[in-house]
Amino acid sequence: MKLANPTMLASGILGYSAESFQSIVNGGAGAIVTKSVGLKSRMGYANPTVVQAKFGLINAMGLPNPGIDGFVEEIREAKAVLTVPLIVSIYGFSADEYASVAQKAVAAGADALELNVSCPHVRETGSEIGQDPRILAEVVRKVKMATRKPVIVKLSPNVTDIVELAESASHAGADALTAINTVKAMAIDAETAMPILNNRVGGLSGQAIKPIALRCVYDIWERAKVPIIGCGGIASWRDAVEFLLAGASAVQIGTAIAAKGPNVFRSTTIGIGNYLKKKGFRSVSEIVGLSHRK
Ligand SMILES: Cc1cc2nc3c(=O)[nH]c(=O)nc-3n(C[C@H](O)[C@H](O)[C@H](O)COP(=O)(O)O)c2cc1C
Repeated sequence: MKLANPTMLASGILGYSAESFQSIVNGGAGAIVTKSVGLKSRMGYANPTVVQAKFGLINAMGLPNPGIDGFVEEIREAKAVLTVPLIVSIYGFSADEYASVAQKAVAAGADALELNVSCPHVRETGSEIGQDPRILAEVVRKVKMATRKPVIVKLSPNVTDIVELAESASHAGADALTAINTVKAMAIDAETAMPILNNRVGGLSGQAIKPIALRCVYDIWERAKVPIIGCGGIASWRDAVEFLLAGASAVQIGTAIAAKGPNVFRSTTIGIGNYLKKKGFRSVSEIVGLSHRK
């Protein structure tokens, strides 16, 4: 999949509508990833679903979504107006469910799929699938059999060995890996003496997780044979360059949009370009993984 620039919208940050995706493309994103969609609609959790932490956000949305049948029209509408690839993020409660959502998303026009096997706050999907190399491989194989579009696997940092899971996904046929989803976290209110999120536990995103995400990309690059998309706390061109040097071929930006607005994509791309020029490189690919040299 060719991108005009190496920045993408991270899944879940701006929902499903063609209009909000267009505002992100106007801000300079090279690709769009939708919020995760499953086979059936889900309400998600009651509020509060998001809490501000010191250097990021903790969310436990509970994967609210209209279900793939309720989303195909939005995919078609988005495809009609967007000038960049549309990657549909999907989840399921079994390998067969992933495969059938994948088929429907591709039939509606998805250019690629991102498998959310790493949501830290919904039981029996998400990170429960992404924690077991055998189940993960089965999900990837079934989705690959169901479609010819590129399949990206989004990995969880909430595991003992993320590299083992990266290898399992790539051996099973994943075309690329996204690292990382949110880091399991919680917040407690001293006044009420209770957890703040309705679900009690959620996932931390933003600045606080950048060093964790960077280490995950660095470690995966040493062993994975497929392109890596870096994600986690990226808010500037310098953050993005660090991920490219660690081994990412592209980056996703999520939480930073709240503070910086959609133009964070353009400023990141321009900053990467200036960095390459200043250092005498001709393309992004020349710096992918460069920090591994001895
Ligand atoms: C409010 C919110 C909702 C999210 N929803 C999803 C989702 O539906 N699917 C998914 O794969 N990741 C989801 N994520 C995780 C992000 O895509 C991303 O992996 C994470 O936030 C780290 O990147 P960031 O620090 O740039 O936000 C969500 C994150 C936030 C903050």
